[in-house]
Amino acid sequence: MSLILRGIDFGPVQGASGIQGFFSGWEYPYRWVLTPLLYFFGYRFDGMTFVSKTSTLYQRDGNAKVRKNGITFRNFKPDCIKAYIFKGIALNSVGLTGPGLNNLLRRKKWQKRTEPFMISVMSVAGTKHERQFEHTGIIHSLKQASVGGMFTAPYAVQLNVSCPNTGHATDEFWDEILPMLDAYEKLKVPIVVKINVLMPIDAACKIADHPACDAIVQGNTLPYGSLPDRVNWYKLFGDQSPIEKTNETYGKGGLSGKPLFPLILNWIDRAEEAGISVPIIACGGIDSRAKVRELAKRTSVKACAIGSVSFLRPWRVAGIIKEAHKCF
Ligand SMILES: Cc1cc2nc3c(=O)[nH]c(=O)nc-3n(C[C@H](O)[C@H](O)[C@H](O)COP(=O)(O)O)c2cc1C
Repeated sequence: MSLILRGIDFGPVQGASGIQGFFSGWEYPYRWVLTPLLYFFGYRFDGMTFVSKTSTLYQRDGNAKVRKNGITFRNFKPDCIKAYIFKGIALNSVGLTGPGLNNLLRRKKWQKRTEPFMISVMSVAGTKHERQFEHTGIIHSLKQASVGGMFTAPYAVQLNVSCPNTGHATDEFWDEILPMLDAYEKLKVPIVVKINVLMPIDAACKIADHPACDAIVQGNTLPYGSLPDRVNWYKLFGDQSPIEKTNETYGKGGLSGKPLFPLILNWIDRAEEAGISVPIIACGGIDSRAKVRELAKRTSVKACAIGSVSFLRPWRVAGIIKEAHKCF
């Protein structure tokens, strides 16, 4: 079994958005070193469905410095990403750096993909009206790009409504998701909504019940400092976010890795109890085969996503993919 949306097979394991860049992951200089170094120890993404890094409609500087091509990181280790290998965690505040959706579509790389994949999009405009306008633009651009069968393989849209690094409170977006889904319905492609564990279960169930919502990704990074009763931020990072310490303008960042797993598991259990009506793609702290097996016990979980494990425990990637193919 794997994640089938509107008759399209998106496989049992996907990339977490942001992990493979806009097109392949080669946009990240660390991959140039890790890939040849660890290839024979299992650093391979074969069998994993590609999900693009989130793009906004317009070009956005964000906090990562990029080369002239607008997508390749200039630094081997950008200062808006902090990785703690031994703790198995990462904190990032990339802030959706990117050249904009139309620029990406003009490169015709997504159109040439031969397997089903997902395009992740988000609007971070300042007001509700501007965000609606930006989403209308995103839908128009995707529609235009699809005219005349320009895409070789089918794609789903992954609607990111939970990026903590854009200067917006994510709950600001929640009541906008249903009208957003009304608009995206016109695209006639599967729509997957990416949320985080801060979203109340009843709000998620309402989103899931919308006819345009085909699946939910739970979840995104956890905004720094949230759920202090469940995450010991002081133990992890001391008294200040290391991202903020590096550069005050970056914000505090969002947490990836190990501490997320029990949180998403608990959220999924509560969502199942509430009778959530669409499949869930589990994402957060999945860094071992055992965690894949644990997720597979939940009937609503139809796939899992590989995130920061790809740079925190890269040698485990192939095993996790293999296990997902076995379990889902
Ligand atoms: C460097 C980095 C960049 C990310 N970029 C995005 C992004 O563009 N869009 C998105 O929806 N999530 C993004 N994420 C969040 C991941 O997709 C994932 O939801 C999160 O890291 C939790 O999964 P993990 O604990 O397995 O890493 C990013 C995470 C990291 C570490």
